[in-house]
Amino acid sequence: MSATRVCSLSELEPDSARRVVVDGVPIAVVLDSAGEVHAIGDTCTHGDISLAEGFVEGDTIECWAHGSAFSLRSGRPLNLPAYEPVPVYAVQLDGDDVLIDPSVTKPAS
Ligand code: FES
Repeated sequence: MSATRVCSLSELEPDSARRVVVDGVPIAVVLDSAGEVHAIGDTCTHGDISLAEGFVEGDTIECWAHGSAFSLRSGRPLNLPAYEPVPVYAVQLDGDDVLIDPSVTKPAS
């Protein structure tokens, strides 16, 4: 599977997330305040809540429902009640295009 263009870099707001669906996979695309683009599974592992509706702070995103924050780098939850990680996808930038291949996950860092 090849990477799919999901949006333009210029469409992303710093410290916010956008929900996209690639090949049926819901993904939260996040531009952090340092200008880095992240892509993680959009569904909170504690409940069926879109993480893109949550709050971005630094390299974390917090689920609005019960407050679990997830690392945008590793996908790991940093606090309860969530205890399972979300997948983290590799992001490619091609000029202003943001591309994601949902079949390729990044190793935890
Ligand atoms: S649904 Fe996300 S922390 Fe509960």
